[in-house]
Amino acid sequence: MKKLILLLFPNLLLAQFNTELFIPSTLEGTTFELTIDESTRQFFAGQTTQTIGFNGDFLGPTLIFNQGDAIDITVNNDLSESTTVHWHGMHVSPEVDGGPHTVIAAGTAWTPDFTVLDRATTFWYHPHLHEKTNEHVTKGAAGLIIVRSTDEAALTLPRTYGEDDIPLIIQSKSFNGQNQLDERGNDTHFMVNGTLDPYLEVPSQMVRFRVINGSNERVLNLGFEDNRMFYQIGSDGGLLTAPVQLNRVRLASGERAELVVDFSSENGSTLSMITYASEFGPGIPGGGGGGAQGFDGQDTEFLEIRVGAQTANPITNISMALSTHTPWNENEADYERTITMDGGGPGNPFSLDNALFDIDFVNETVTLDDIEIWTITNNTNLAHPFHIHDIQFYILDKNGVAPPLNEQGLKDVVLVEGNQSVRFITKFEDFADPEVPYMYHCHILPHEDGGMMGQFIVVEEDDALGFDEIRKQFRVYPNPVKDKIIRVLMPDQLDPQSTVGFTILDLAGKEISHFPSTVCGPSNLKVLYLNEYNPGIYTLAIRVNGKYESSLRMIIK
Ligand code: C2O
Ligand code: CU
Ligand code: CU
Repeated sequence: MKKLILLLFPNLLLAQFNTELFIPSTLEGTTFELTIDESTRQFFAGQTTQTIGFNGDFLGPTLIFNQGDAIDITVNNDLSESTTVHWHGMHVSPEVDGGPHTVIAAGTAWTPDFTVLDRATTFWYHPHLHEKTNEHVTKGAAGLIIVRSTDEAALTLPRTYGEDDIPLIIQSKSFNGQNQLDERGNDTHFMVNGTLDPYLEVPSQMVRFRVINGSNERVLNLGFEDNRMFYQIGSDGGLLTAPVQLNRVRLASGERAELVVDFSSENGSTLSMITYASEFGPGIPGGGGGGAQGFDGQDTEFLEIRVGAQTANPITNISMALSTHTPWNENEADYERTITMDGGGPGNPFSLDNALFDIDFVNETVTLDDIEIWTITNNTNLAHPFHIHDIQFYILDKNGVAPPLNEQGLKDVVLVEGNQSVRFITKFEDFADPEVPYMYHCHILPHEDGGMMGQFIVVEEDDALGFDEIRKQFRVYPNPVKDKIIRVLMPDQLDPQSTVGFTILDLAGKEISHFPSTVCGPSNLKVLYLNEYNPGIYTLAIRVNGKYESSLRMIIK
């Protein structure tokens, strides 16, 4: 077979695949304990590589959650430095989401608890400390989450973990000359579940793969050496309406897909799983023409599949109706926002809305229960995977064109190609918190760490003063207030001749102080000094031309 492959794909990189694929162990129930710690592993005989793992030396156990369960987790940070742990894709409150604000200091434990509200699907967990995410994930800190549900259990699908339901955490990594993982280096190796050059024995029947692209940057273009068709049954947030037949699935960093491949009557055969990077243009990370990165533009085999005997009760056919989706309608949207992807080039880091992440600046304020349309416009030449916390969304269109069938399910990552605009629709339900923001960012980890990230808070509607839509366009920062100074940025469209004044109320709605109105002026920025305020949560009400237009929660620490 290898010779034939070489003839068909002259630029295919081949290796020997003689290490059995590692299948992460599972933790199941309602109480979970994870310990993140520095460790070492011998990826290369006789060579010690420094790693980070959860409950082990590399990656972590697969957490199995049941929809509806109340879950308690203890995360012990045994690292010699701070980190955070984020449940990527899960619909949980900002306090337990594990973003950059929820720091777990070295030697301490964090104990989030939440109810599993999501559909049956595949999520993952990984550190999210600002400027450290790439390093921690590259060294091995990541693991899989499987959500099961009664709906999913009623379907005919392979679901015996490690037997016909196989996790594939695919990562391209850079080992430097000292055999150390280097989060800034050119990729030198692919690994699956932490195994270099892996082979996997599968039974000759329908086999499900829960695939996650856990690479820090590279986009994958997955297929099999014989170009066979397979089914995609699920996207980031759950099962698709029906299986979609494909011979390639493209996954950007952070994205997941559940695939089902039919190996019936193939007992004894061997075939490769390949990322067909030569089919990508230079604008896709890992595509051709992108410079000297190892593997760029190269079709690369990363897993050898060896088909063996059938199991006792094989799944040989799968359900053709999987789930129901009723995306929100565009005309139900309460609000629309746009985010631009900018920057690139020497001395010009990639950014969102031309600004780098500032942990003290809340970029967007969302009203609880609003349906929103977000337009992500990529003004750069490179594709960036946009990821948002809290919710799953439906892609409306990419440059005005509806997405392919396999991207019509629930998503939390979407690859926005160079100079492309992607619109998605979502609803911000269940969790409001004026204090802890959720993140949105590029899931290319060096870009995220470099500041291609923003944050939003979800606040409960405060109708008391009859505010209208303009409220969302005021920005108050830093919030929580630092050094008793707060800045209010007025919306661009506000006439500089307008007068602006402020009233500060306590949470009971009692007026505490009244700042007189002054002319807005061209700078659109007002600074308030709050020296006499005690720590607490306040409402900042904004008057425009003598009329209340907006109110925001303001936290004084
Ligand atoms: Cu997978 Cu905000 O992250
Ligand atoms: Cu996430
Ligand atoms: Cu990016």
